[in-house]
Amino acid sequence: MTSHVDKPNQSDPEAFTSTGPVDNGAKTGKQSEGDYRLQIFQSSLNALAHILIGATVMPCLLYALRNGVPLTATSVHIILCVIGHHLLMAEAILSLSPANGWSSRLRLVDKRRAHWILMTTGSGMAIAGSFYKILDKPVHWNTLHGQFALVALVFTVASLFNGLTSHYAYEWRVVFNANLSKITHICFGVLAYTMSSVCLIYGLDKQGVRNWATSPVIDALIAAIVIYTAICIINPTISFYRKSKLVVKNSL
Ligand code: HEM
Repeated sequence: MTSHVDKPNQSDPEAFTSTGPVDNGAKTGKQSEGDYRLQIFQSSLNALAHILIGATVMPCLLYALRNGVPLTATSVHIILCVIGHHLLMAEAILSLSPANGWSSRLRLVDKRRAHWILMTTGSGMAIAGSFYKILDKPVHWNTLHGQFALVALVFTVASLFNGLTSHYAYEWRVVFNANLSKITHICFGVLAYTMSSVCLIYGLDKQGVRNWATSPVIDALIAAIVIYTAICIINPTISFYRKSKLVVKNSL
């Protein structure tokens, strides 16, 4: 198998150089109408994802804080898991999209820095929040919420490890196959995030939460989670497909 190893900062999954976005034709005037429309569509989807993330995270925090302090173990776990998985990890994934508003003008090196800082902080909070509740419960994995949380936890840890090997792909190329590290990092990250969304849906579907927020509100939040999760995973899924195709082509 031919092993192609990217040099540091040359392996961006998106079309970026180290000094900023690749000229998409806007400056040279060569951008086609189709490309322009696609970019506007992607940017609009991205903006929608940010709105829906805020609209989902906020009610979860209000629910967790509804009885004030001292917080119960469930409230602490909700705050840590929801901020970790659905605010920070979501932003970490979106930060690599060329259509993402706040990160599109960042240099590649800063974009990657933002990605790993958000990813490690988010994963750390989500892992801590999960263990907080696991230690609080006498019986485990007896609900669909808990079972999906366990799958999300396993993939979050795996994706963190692969994130480290991808970050140092060039330096550690003798020990870890760089392409494999990156492909599995994307795959585990997408799975971790998707499973945490399913887990959140089951969390919000609990009767106590429905009674507090009313059923139509919970249904709307579930729809929001489905939409923003789909938007968040589009880009990494395309990136996963492209990279896998390249590896297969190189190995033939
Ligand atoms: C992505 C976000 C979330 C993650 C990763 C997560 C993770 C977990 C984990 C690991 C457990 C322990 C499972 C066990 O030991 O069997 C648990 C239990 C629990 N969680 Fe969450 N949680 C999340 C969001 C929520 C939300 C939003 C609520 C409620 C509003 C909630 C309410 C509960 C309750 C009541 C339990 C105990 C009953 C059960 O296991 O189903 N969680 N959660």
